[in-house]
Amino acid sequence: MNSESGNDDKGKFFKNIQALWDSQLKDSKEKWYSLGDQYWKKIEPTLNGVLGGLDFLNKIDIEESNKLLTMLYKNPLQNLRVLDCGAGIGRVSKELLIQWFKKVDLVEQNPIYVEKAKEELGDKISEYYCAGLQSFEFQHKYDCIWVQWVASHLTDDDLILFLKKCKLNLNGNGYIILKENITKQGFSYDTEDHSVIRSDAMFKQLFLKAGLDLKFSGLQPNFPKDLYQVNQYVLQ
Ligand SMILES: C[S@@+](CC[C@H](N)C(=O)[O-])C[C@H]1O[C@@H](n2cnc3c(N)ncnc32)[C@H](O)[C@@H]1O
Repeated sequence: MNSESGNDDKGKFFKNIQALWDSQLKDSKEKWYSLGDQYWKKIEPTLNGVLGGLDFLNKIDIEESNKLLTMLYKNPLQNLRVLDCGAGIGRVSKELLIQWFKKVDLVEQNPIYVEKAKEELGDKISEYYCAGLQSFEFQHKYDCIWVQWVASHLTDDDLILFLKKCKLNLNGNGYIILKENITKQGFSYDTEDHSVIRSDAMFKQLFLKAGLDLKFSGLQPNFPKDLYQVNQYVLQ
């Protein structure tokens, strides 16, 4: 188990991440997910909403993601299928993935966001799934599985399980791309949106447990210095 300690945003100390899970999951795991779900249901279905009031980050984020896809897939619109996970209102699908992949599916827990994505993207998306990643069952194989700013909502066990399912449902040359806030060390539990920001070392340990190979890891450049760093992980 990872031995890094952490805090919540009220200053409570946890000697390791298991101590956090012991305190948060003692009633039920459903409660953890329901609190996260309730938070997102209160957040307006807009770019500003899903980006925590920082909609200017969209352009910088998408520019870098485009570079990553150019490195991995070389040419856009080959006959490939992608799944956008924790897709929110379909920001990444709209701004990036439909430019790159012939078939784009998305999975998002919040029905309000899924409706908004349907309004905006219609049949540009092949399948809309309204589900939590912790219980999502794959119905297709993918050449790319995009997991951005949602891994922090999953418990360690569920993230490992989800990544294992991703691996099983990835086509031969496909990639799982996980883009997420990271701490410099230890973890930080946000009691408002019920997410856990992990360190790079914590993520790497979870990838190992999921049986994934880390093919590339790199920080998103040009984000404001007062925000968490965002790391891009490419896995197979
Ligand atoms: C910060 S937003 C990011 C949305 C999108 N990935 C993007 O980059 O624009 C986090 C999203 O994750 C979704 N989410 C949170 N917990 C989830 C879960 N357990 N399963 C699926 N989606 C979840 C939220 O409803 C919200 O849409």
